[in-house]
Amino acid sequence: MTSANGPMEKIVSLAKRRGFVFPGSELYGGLANSWDYGPLGVELKNNIKRAWWERFAERRDDMVGLDSGIVLNPRVWEVSGHLSAGFADPLVECKHCHTRFRADQIDVSKPCGNCGAKGAFTEARMFNLMLKTFLGPAEEQANVAYFRPETAQGIFINFKNILDTSRRQLPFGVAQAGKAFRNEITPGNFIFRTREFEQMEIEYFIPPPAREEDWNDYFEEWRKAMREWIREAGIDESRVHEAEIGEGERAHYSRRTIDFEFEYPFGRKELYGLAYRGDFDLRNHFKEPPYRDAQTGEAFWPHVIEPSLGVERTFLAVLLSSYAEDGGRVVLKLPPKLAPYKAAVFPLLSNKPALVAKAREIYDALRARFMVAWDDRGNIGKRYYAQDEIGTPYCITVDFDTLGEEGGADLKDTVTVRRRDTGAQERVRADKLAEFLHAAIYR
Ligand code: GAP
Repeated sequence: MTSANGPMEKIVSLAKRRGFVFPGSELYGGLANSWDYGPLGVELKNNIKRAWWERFAERRDDMVGLDSGIVLNPRVWEVSGHLSAGFADPLVECKHCHTRFRADQIDVSKPCGNCGAKGAFTEARMFNLMLKTFLGPAEEQANVAYFRPETAQGIFINFKNILDTSRRQLPFGVAQAGKAFRNEITPGNFIFRTREFEQMEIEYFIPPPAREEDWNDYFEEWRKAMREWIREAGIDESRVHEAEIGEGERAHYSRRTIDFEFEYPFGRKELYGLAYRGDFDLRNHFKEPPYRDAQTGEAFWPHVIEPSLGVERTFLAVLLSSYAEDGGRVVLKLPPKLAPYKAAVFPLLSNKPALVAKAREIYDALRARFMVAWDDRGNIGKRYYAQDEIGTPYCITVDFDTLGEEGGADLKDTVTVRRRDTGAQERVRADKLAEFLHAAIYR
Protein backbone atom coordinates (compact mmCIF):
# COMPACT_ATOMS: atom_id res chain seq x y z
CA MET A 1 0.00 0.00 0.00
CA THR A 2 1.49 3.35 -0.95
CA SER A 3 1.38 5.96 1.75
CA ALA A 4 -0.89 8.85 2.39
CA ASN A 5 1.12 11.66 0.78
CA GLY A 6 -1.30 11.95 -2.11
CA PRO A 7 -0.86 15.11 -4.11
CA MET A 8 -3.36 17.91 -3.82
CA GLU A 9 -4.90 17.31 -7.24
CA LYS A 10 -6.05 13.85 -6.17
CA ILE A 11 -7.59 15.20 -2.99
CA VAL A 12 -9.29 18.12 -4.77
CA SER A 13 -10.65 15.79 -7.44
CA LEU A 14 -11.86 13.17 -4.93
CA ALA A 15 -13.42 15.93 -2.81
CA LYS A 16 -15.42 17.19 -5.77
CA ARG A 17 -16.28 13.78 -7.29
CA ARG A 18 -17.59 12.30 -4.05
CA GLY A 19 -19.32 15.40 -2.64
CA PHE A 20 -16.91 16.61 0.04
CA VAL A 21 -15.98 20.04 -1.35
CA PHE A 22 -17.38 21.90 -4.37
CA PRO A 23 -15.97 25.09 -5.94
CA GLY A 24 -18.01 27.98 -4.52
CA SER A 25 -20.78 29.54 -6.65
CA GLU A 26 -19.87 27.23 -9.54
CA LEU A 27 -23.20 27.76 -11.27
CA TYR A 28 -22.33 31.44 -11.76
CA GLY A 29 -18.78 30.93 -12.95
CA GLY A 30 -17.40 30.57 -9.43
CA LEU A 31 -16.19 32.96 -6.75
CA ALA A 32 -12.41 32.82 -6.51
CA ASN A 33 -11.07 30.81 -3.59
CA SER A 34 -14.45 30.02 -2.08
CA TRP A 35 -15.68 26.51 -1.42
CA ASP A 36 -18.93 24.80 -0.53
CA TYR A 37 -19.09 21.64 1.54
CA GLY A 38 -21.20 18.87 -0.01
CA PRO A 39 -23.22 16.04 1.61
CA LEU A 40 -20.09 14.18 2.77
CA GLY A 41 -18.04 17.31 3.48
CA VAL A 42 -20.61 18.73 5.86
CA GLU A 43 -20.62 15.44 7.78
CA LEU A 44 -16.82 15.37 8.06
CA LYS A 45 -16.74 19.05 9.06
CA ASN A 46 -19.49 18.59 11.65
CA ASN A 47 -17.79 15.46 13.02
CA ILE A 48 -14.52 17.39 13.41
CA LYS A 49 -16.29 20.22 15.25
CA ARG A 50 -18.32 17.80 17.38
CA ALA A 51 -15.23 15.79 18.38
CA TRP A 52 -13.41 19.00 19.32
CA TRP A 53 -16.39 20.33 21.25
CA GLU A 54 -16.88 17.05 23.12
CA ARG A 55 -13.19 16.78 24.00
CA PHE A 56 -12.68 20.36 25.14
CA ALA A 57 -16.03 21.97 26.04
CA GLU A 58 -17.99 19.01 27.41
CA ARG A 59 -15.58 16.42 28.85
CA ARG A 60 -13.51 18.87 30.92
CA ASP A 61 -14.93 20.37 34.07
CA ASP A 62 -12.70 23.44 33.74
CA MET A 63 -14.32 24.49 30.45
CA VAL A 64 -17.56 26.10 29.30
CA GLY A 65 -18.85 27.00 25.83
CA LEU A 66 -20.07 30.15 24.07
CA ASP A 67 -21.69 31.13 20.78
CA SER A 68 -21.29 34.88 20.32
CA GLY A 69 -22.16 37.06 17.32
CA ILE A 70 -20.10 37.21 14.15
CA VAL A 71 -20.70 40.95 13.85
CA LEU A 72 -19.84 42.78 17.06
CA ASN A 73 -19.82 46.43 18.04
CA PRO A 74 -17.01 48.03 15.94
CA ARG A 75 -15.47 49.38 19.14
CA VAL A 76 -14.46 45.79 19.95
CA TRP A 77 -12.08 45.82 16.99
CA GLU A 78 -10.64 49.23 17.81
CA VAL A 79 -9.93 48.12 21.36
CA SER A 80 -8.60 44.68 20.37
CA GLY A 81 -6.12 46.29 17.96
CA HIS A 82 -7.52 44.58 14.87
CA LEU A 83 -8.29 47.87 13.11
CA SER A 84 -4.70 49.02 13.50
CA ALA A 85 -1.52 48.23 11.58
CA GLY A 86 -0.99 45.17 13.78
CA PHE A 87 -3.63 43.25 11.83
CA ALA A 88 -2.46 44.12 8.35
CA ASP A 89 -0.28 42.49 5.69
CA PRO A 90 2.17 44.31 3.37
CA LEU A 91 0.60 44.62 -0.09
CA VAL A 92 2.42 45.23 -3.38
CA GLU A 93 0.90 45.46 -6.83
CA CYS A 94 2.47 44.75 -10.20
CA LYS A 95 2.26 48.07 -12.12
CA HIS A 96 2.03 46.10 -15.34
CA CYS A 97 -0.70 43.45 -14.79
CA HIS A 98 -2.10 44.84 -11.49
CA THR A 99 -1.88 41.48 -9.71
CA ARG A 100 -1.56 41.95 -5.96
CA PHE A 101 0.82 40.02 -3.76
CA ARG A 102 1.80 39.88 -0.11
CA ALA A 103 5.21 41.52 -0.04
CA ASP A 104 6.36 39.12 2.68
CA GLN A 105 5.54 36.10 0.49
CA ILE A 106 7.45 37.04 -2.68
CA ASP A 107 10.87 38.41 -3.61
CA VAL A 108 10.02 41.89 -4.92
CA SER A 109 13.43 42.17 -6.59
CA LYS A 110 12.39 39.36 -8.96
CA PRO A 111 10.01 39.63 -11.97
CA CYS A 112 6.25 39.50 -11.37
CA GLY A 113 5.12 35.88 -10.93
CA ASN A 114 2.03 36.54 -13.04
CA CYS A 115 3.21 38.52 -16.10
CA GLY A 116 7.00 38.36 -15.82
CA ALA A 117 7.46 42.18 -15.83
CA LYS A 118 10.71 43.25 -14.20
CA GLY A 119 11.04 45.93 -11.47
CA ALA A 120 7.32 46.55 -11.72
CA PHE A 121 6.12 46.42 -8.10
CA THR A 122 4.61 49.38 -6.24
CA GLU A 123 5.93 50.34 -2.82
CA ALA A 124 4.53 48.04 -0.12
CA ARG A 125 1.59 49.45 1.84
CA MET A 126 -0.09 47.90 4.85
CA PHE A 127 -3.47 46.38 4.04
CA ASN A 128 -5.88 45.75 6.93
CA LEU A 129 -7.50 42.31 6.85
CA MET A 130 -10.85 43.21 8.45
CA LEU A 131 -13.87 42.49 6.21
CA LYS A 132 -16.14 45.50 6.28
CA THR A 133 -19.88 45.88 5.84
CA PHE A 134 -22.70 48.31 6.70
CA LEU A 135 -25.52 47.56 9.11
CA GLY A 136 -28.88 48.94 7.98
CA PRO A 137 -29.81 50.68 4.75
CA ALA A 138 -27.47 53.70 4.85
CA GLU A 139 -23.92 53.11 3.69
CA GLU A 140 -22.33 55.71 5.93
CA GLN A 141 -19.47 55.75 8.40
CA ALA A 142 -21.80 55.51 11.41
CA ASN A 143 -23.11 52.16 10.12
CA VAL A 144 -19.77 50.51 9.40
CA ALA A 145 -19.41 47.08 10.95
CA TYR A 146 -16.91 44.24 10.59
CA PHE A 147 -17.11 40.48 10.32
CA ARG A 148 -15.03 38.98 13.11
CA PRO A 149 -11.51 37.92 12.09
CA GLU A 150 -11.23 35.63 15.13
CA THR A 151 -13.86 34.10 17.42
CA ALA A 152 -11.74 34.99 20.46
CA GLN A 153 -13.02 38.54 20.98
CA GLY A 154 -16.59 37.31 21.54
CA ILE A 155 -15.20 35.35 24.48
CA PHE A 156 -13.26 38.28 25.95
CA ILE A 157 -16.17 40.71 25.85
CA ASN A 158 -18.43 38.12 27.52
CA PHE A 159 -15.87 37.26 30.19
CA LYS A 160 -17.84 38.85 33.03
CA ASN A 161 -21.19 37.45 31.84
CA ILE A 162 -19.69 33.97 31.77
CA LEU A 163 -18.07 34.43 35.16
CA ASP A 164 -21.26 35.71 36.78
CA THR A 165 -23.44 32.94 35.39
CA SER A 166 -21.14 29.93 35.53
CA ARG A 167 -19.42 30.80 38.84
CA ARG A 168 -16.05 29.54 37.65
CA GLN A 169 -12.80 29.94 39.52
CA LEU A 170 -9.47 30.29 37.76
CA PRO A 171 -8.13 28.49 35.93
CA PHE A 172 -10.95 27.86 33.49
CA GLY A 173 -11.48 28.11 29.76
CA VAL A 174 -14.14 29.12 27.27
CA ALA A 175 -14.55 27.33 23.94
CA GLN A 176 -16.16 28.76 20.85
CA ALA A 177 -16.36 27.48 17.27
CA GLY A 178 -17.69 29.41 14.32
CA LYS A 179 -17.13 31.48 11.22
CA ALA A 180 -14.37 34.04 10.90
CA PHE A 181 -13.55 36.31 7.98
CA ARG A 182 -10.35 37.92 6.74
CA ASN A 183 -9.86 39.95 3.61
CA GLU A 184 -6.77 37.92 2.68
CA ILE A 185 -4.60 39.38 -0.10
CA THR A 186 -3.60 35.97 -1.44
CA PRO A 187 -6.08 33.25 -0.53
CA GLY A 188 -5.39 29.89 -2.15
CA ASN A 189 -4.18 26.31 -1.97
CA PHE A 190 -7.70 24.85 -2.05
CA ILE A 191 -9.32 25.30 1.40
CA PHE A 192 -6.02 26.20 3.12
CA ARG A 193 -6.40 29.98 3.01
CA THR A 194 -9.81 31.47 2.34
CA ARG A 195 -11.56 34.72 3.21
CA GLU A 196 -14.40 32.89 4.96
CA PHE A 197 -13.40 30.06 7.28
CA GLU A 198 -14.15 28.54 10.66
CA GLN A 199 -12.17 28.50 13.87
CA MET A 200 -12.33 26.37 17.00
CA GLU A 201 -10.83 28.50 19.75
CA ILE A 202 -10.22 28.25 23.46
CA GLU A 203 -9.36 31.14 25.75
CA TYR A 204 -7.96 29.55 28.91
CA PHE A 205 -7.89 32.05 31.76
CA ILE A 206 -5.18 31.80 34.42
CA PRO A 207 -4.11 33.95 37.40
CA PRO A 208 -1.52 36.62 36.58
CA PRO A 209 1.69 34.63 36.79
CA ALA A 210 3.93 35.56 39.73
CA ARG A 211 6.84 33.79 38.04
CA GLU A 212 7.63 32.98 34.41
CA GLU A 213 7.15 29.22 34.94
CA ASP A 214 3.56 29.75 36.07
CA TRP A 215 2.15 30.54 32.63
CA ASN A 216 4.66 28.28 30.97
CA ASP A 217 3.23 25.24 32.79
CA TYR A 218 -0.25 26.00 31.41
CA PHE A 219 1.26 26.61 27.98
CA GLU A 220 2.90 23.19 28.11
CA GLU A 221 -0.37 21.54 29.21
CA TRP A 222 -2.13 23.05 26.19
CA ARG A 223 0.69 22.08 23.87
CA LYS A 224 0.14 18.47 24.99
CA ALA A 225 -3.64 18.79 24.72
CA MET A 226 -3.26 19.99 21.12
CA ARG A 227 -1.02 17.00 20.36
CA GLU A 228 -3.68 14.66 21.79
CA TRP A 229 -6.30 16.31 19.59
CA ILE A 230 -4.04 15.93 16.52
CA ARG A 231 -3.85 12.19 17.28
CA GLU A 232 -7.62 11.90 17.81
CA ALA A 233 -8.25 13.62 14.47
CA GLY A 234 -6.03 11.08 12.70
CA ILE A 235 -3.62 13.77 11.50
CA ASP A 236 -0.26 12.18 10.63
CA GLU A 237 1.94 13.32 13.54
CA SER A 238 5.12 12.68 11.61
CA ARG A 239 4.05 15.55 9.34
CA VAL A 240 3.36 17.98 12.21
CA HIS A 241 6.14 20.28 13.42
CA GLU A 242 6.16 22.97 16.08
CA ALA A 243 7.67 26.34 15.18
CA GLU A 244 8.50 28.97 17.80
CA ILE A 245 7.43 32.32 16.36
CA GLY A 246 10.00 35.08 16.87
CA GLU A 247 9.35 38.39 18.58
CA GLY A 248 8.85 40.50 15.44
CA GLU A 249 6.70 37.85 13.75
CA ARG A 250 4.05 37.34 16.41
CA ALA A 251 0.51 38.75 16.36
CA HIS A 252 0.19 42.14 18.09
CA TYR A 253 -1.35 40.59 21.23
CA SER A 254 0.99 37.64 21.70
CA ARG A 255 3.86 37.25 24.17
CA ARG A 256 4.66 33.76 22.93
CA THR A 257 3.34 31.74 19.97
CA ILE A 258 4.00 28.25 18.75
CA ASP A 259 2.67 27.35 15.33
CA PHE A 260 1.81 23.73 14.71
CA GLU A 261 2.81 23.32 11.09
CA PHE A 262 1.74 20.53 8.76
CA GLU A 263 3.60 19.22 5.73
CA TYR A 264 1.01 19.98 3.04
CA PRO A 265 1.89 19.02 -0.55
CA PHE A 266 2.42 22.76 -1.21
CA GLY A 267 4.86 23.16 1.69
CA ARG A 268 5.16 23.19 5.46
CA LYS A 269 2.58 25.70 6.66
CA GLU A 270 0.53 26.65 9.70
CA LEU A 271 -2.12 24.23 10.88
CA TYR A 272 -2.82 25.61 14.36
CA GLY A 273 -1.52 28.28 16.72
CA LEU A 274 -0.92 28.28 20.46
CA ALA A 275 -0.45 31.73 21.98
CA TYR A 276 0.09 33.33 25.37
CA ARG A 277 -1.90 36.56 25.09
CA GLY A 278 -1.09 37.73 28.63
CA ASP A 279 -3.78 40.12 29.88
CA PHE A 280 -3.73 42.17 26.65
CA ASP A 281 -7.38 41.60 25.75
CA LEU A 282 -9.12 41.67 29.15
CA ARG A 283 -7.15 44.75 30.19
CA ASN A 284 -8.18 46.54 27.00
CA HIS A 285 -11.86 45.60 27.30
CA PHE A 286 -12.37 46.05 31.06
CA LYS A 287 -11.44 49.29 32.82
CA GLU A 288 -11.86 47.62 36.22
CA PRO A 289 -10.34 44.22 37.01
CA PRO A 290 -13.08 41.73 36.00
CA TYR A 291 -12.05 38.94 38.39
CA ARG A 292 -11.81 38.74 42.20
CA ASP A 293 -10.05 35.87 43.92
CA ALA A 294 -12.52 34.13 46.28
CA GLN A 295 -9.84 33.41 48.91
CA THR A 296 -7.71 36.54 48.96
CA GLY A 297 -10.31 39.06 47.75
CA GLU A 298 -7.70 40.42 45.34
CA ALA A 299 -9.07 41.81 42.08
CA PHE A 300 -7.10 41.45 38.84
CA TRP A 301 -7.11 40.90 35.09
CA PRO A 302 -6.60 37.19 34.33
CA HIS A 303 -4.08 36.17 31.69
CA VAL A 304 -4.91 33.85 28.84
CA ILE A 305 -3.48 30.90 26.92
CA GLU A 306 -5.09 30.42 23.51
CA PRO A 307 -5.11 27.23 21.42
CA SER A 308 -6.59 28.30 18.08
CA LEU A 309 -7.56 25.74 15.43
CA GLY A 310 -8.81 26.22 11.89
CA VAL A 311 -11.63 23.85 10.90
CA GLU A 312 -10.78 23.80 7.18
CA ARG A 313 -7.07 23.26 7.83
CA THR A 314 -8.02 20.35 10.09
CA PHE A 315 -10.29 19.03 7.32
CA LEU A 316 -7.45 19.25 4.78
CA ALA A 317 -4.82 17.71 7.08
CA VAL A 318 -7.25 14.89 7.96
CA LEU A 319 -7.94 14.16 4.27
CA LEU A 320 -4.23 14.28 3.37
CA SER A 321 -3.30 12.06 6.32
CA SER A 322 -5.94 9.45 5.61
CA TYR A 323 -5.56 9.25 1.83
CA ALA A 324 -3.98 6.00 0.66
CA GLU A 325 -3.79 4.05 -2.60
CA ASP A 326 -3.75 0.28 -2.91
CA GLY A 327 -3.15 -0.62 -6.55
CA GLY A 328 -5.94 1.26 -8.30
CA ARG A 329 -8.04 1.45 -5.14
CA VAL A 330 -8.31 4.62 -3.06
CA VAL A 331 -8.89 4.28 0.69
CA LEU A 332 -9.60 7.16 3.04
CA LYS A 333 -8.46 5.82 6.40
CA LEU A 334 -10.46 8.33 8.40
CA PRO A 335 -10.84 7.80 12.14
CA PRO A 336 -14.28 6.09 12.37
CA LYS A 337 -15.54 8.90 14.61
CA LEU A 338 -14.91 11.43 11.82
CA ALA A 339 -16.06 9.33 8.86
CA PRO A 340 -19.20 10.73 7.13
CA TYR A 341 -20.82 7.27 7.13
CA LYS A 342 -20.15 4.87 9.97
CA ALA A 343 -21.30 1.89 7.94
CA ALA A 344 -22.86 0.92 4.61
CA VAL A 345 -25.53 -1.76 4.27
CA PHE A 346 -25.83 -3.92 1.12
CA PRO A 347 -28.16 -6.72 0.05
CA LEU A 348 -25.90 -9.29 -1.66
CA LEU A 349 -28.14 -9.20 -4.73
CA SER A 350 -30.52 -6.39 -5.61
CA ASN A 351 -32.93 -8.61 -7.55
CA LYS A 352 -33.85 -10.86 -4.59
CA PRO A 353 -36.73 -9.17 -2.73
CA ALA A 354 -36.18 -11.16 0.49
CA LEU A 355 -32.53 -10.02 0.68
CA VAL A 356 -33.44 -6.41 -0.07
CA ALA A 357 -36.23 -6.42 2.53
CA LYS A 358 -33.97 -7.85 5.25
CA ALA A 359 -31.13 -5.44 4.37
CA ARG A 360 -33.58 -2.53 4.39
CA GLU A 361 -34.81 -3.53 7.85
CA ILE A 362 -31.21 -3.54 9.17
CA TYR A 363 -30.43 -0.26 7.40
CA ASP A 364 -33.49 1.46 8.89
CA ALA A 365 -32.68 0.24 12.40
CA LEU A 366 -29.06 1.43 12.19
CA ARG A 367 -29.96 4.72 10.56
CA ALA A 368 -31.95 5.67 13.62
CA ARG A 369 -28.63 5.84 15.50
CA PHE A 370 -25.80 6.32 12.98
CA MET A 371 -25.09 7.88 9.60
CA VAL A 372 -25.40 4.79 7.40
CA ALA A 373 -25.21 4.45 3.60
CA TRP A 374 -27.31 2.16 1.41
CA ASP A 375 -25.99 0.64 -1.81
CA ASP A 376 -27.52 -2.06 -4.00
CA ARG A 377 -25.87 -1.17 -7.33
CA GLY A 378 -23.22 -3.22 -9.16
CA ASN A 379 -21.29 -6.01 -7.53
CA ILE A 380 -20.12 -6.21 -3.93
CA GLY A 381 -16.47 -5.48 -4.86
CA LYS A 382 -17.42 -2.19 -6.53
CA ARG A 383 -19.58 -1.23 -3.55
CA TYR A 384 -16.65 -1.88 -1.20
CA TYR A 385 -14.37 0.34 -3.28
CA ALA A 386 -16.93 3.12 -3.45
CA GLN A 387 -17.20 3.09 0.37
CA ASP A 388 -13.40 2.81 0.88
CA GLU A 389 -12.96 5.96 -1.16
CA ILE A 390 -15.16 8.00 1.19
CA GLY A 391 -13.78 6.42 4.37
CA THR A 392 -16.73 4.28 5.50
CA PRO A 393 -15.13 2.02 8.13
CA TYR A 394 -17.60 -0.91 7.97
CA CYS A 395 -19.59 -2.54 5.17
CA ILE A 396 -22.45 -4.83 6.15
CA THR A 397 -23.71 -7.43 3.66
CA VAL A 398 -26.97 -9.30 3.99
CA ASP A 399 -26.74 -12.65 2.19
CA PHE A 400 -28.57 -15.98 1.93
CA ASP A 401 -27.01 -17.13 5.23
CA THR A 402 -28.71 -14.19 6.91
CA LEU A 403 -32.05 -15.47 5.64
CA GLY A 404 -31.24 -18.99 6.83
CA GLU A 405 -31.43 -20.26 3.23
CA GLU A 406 -27.79 -21.38 3.09
CA GLY A 407 -25.18 -22.26 5.71
CA GLY A 408 -26.09 -23.63 9.09
CA ALA A 409 -28.86 -22.50 11.41
CA ASP A 410 -26.21 -20.71 13.47
CA LEU A 411 -25.62 -18.26 10.59
CA LYS A 412 -29.27 -17.27 10.36
CA ASP A 413 -29.75 -13.60 11.30
CA THR A 414 -26.03 -12.90 11.06
CA VAL A 415 -24.42 -10.57 8.50
CA THR A 416 -20.93 -10.12 7.06
CA VAL A 417 -19.09 -7.10 8.41
CA ARG A 418 -16.07 -6.08 6.33
CA ARG A 419 -13.42 -3.72 7.72
CA ARG A 420 -12.20 -0.91 5.46
CA ASP A 421 -8.51 -0.88 6.44
CA THR A 422 -7.77 -4.60 6.41
CA GLY A 423 -10.54 -6.04 4.26
CA ALA A 424 -11.04 -8.61 7.06
CA GLN A 425 -14.55 -10.01 7.35
CA GLU A 426 -16.49 -11.47 10.28
CA ARG A 427 -20.05 -12.60 10.97
CA VAL A 428 -22.00 -10.47 13.44
CA ARG A 429 -25.53 -11.06 14.73
CA ALA A 430 -27.88 -8.55 13.11
CA ASP A 431 -29.41 -7.63 16.48
CA LYS A 432 -25.91 -6.86 17.86
CA LEU A 433 -24.86 -4.57 14.99
CA ALA A 434 -25.66 -1.29 16.74
CA GLU A 435 -23.67 -2.39 19.78
CA PHE A 436 -20.81 -3.56 17.53
CA LEU A 437 -20.69 -0.25 15.66
CA HIS A 438 -20.92 1.85 18.78
CA ALA A 439 -18.03 -0.01 20.42
CA ALA A 440 -15.91 0.14 17.25
CA ILE A 441 -16.49 3.82 16.55
CA TYR A 442 -16.49 5.40 19.98
CA ARG A 443 -13.95 3.12 21.65
N1 GAP B 1 -7.36 34.01 17.78
C1 GAP B 1 -6.08 33.71 17.29
C2 GAP B 1 -6.02 33.62 15.84
O1 GAP B 1 -6.97 33.93 15.16
P1 GAP B 1 -4.46 32.92 13.86
O2 GAP B 1 -3.15 32.18 13.87
O3 GAP B 1 -4.53 34.18 13.07
O4 GAP B 1 -4.82 33.18 15.38
C3 GAP B 1 -5.84 30.74 14.04
O5 GAP B 1 -5.60 31.95 13.35
C4 GAP B 1 -6.08 29.60 13.08
O6 GAP B 1 -7.15 29.92 12.19
C5 GAP B 1 -4.88 29.29 12.17
O7 GAP B 1 -3.93 28.47 12.82
C6 GAP B 1 -5.57 28.56 11.03
O8 GAP B 1 -5.84 27.22 11.39
C7 GAP B 1 -6.91 29.30 10.93
N2 GAP B 1 -6.89 30.35 9.89
C8 GAP B 1 -6.42 31.62 10.01
N3 GAP B 1 -6.59 32.30 8.87
C9 GAP B 1 -7.17 31.45 7.99
C10 GAP B 1 -7.62 31.57 6.62
N4 GAP B 1 -7.51 32.71 5.94
N5 GAP B 1 -8.19 30.48 6.04
C11 GAP B 1 -8.33 29.32 6.72
N6 GAP B 1 -7.94 29.16 8.01
C12 GAP B 1 -7.37 30.20 8.64
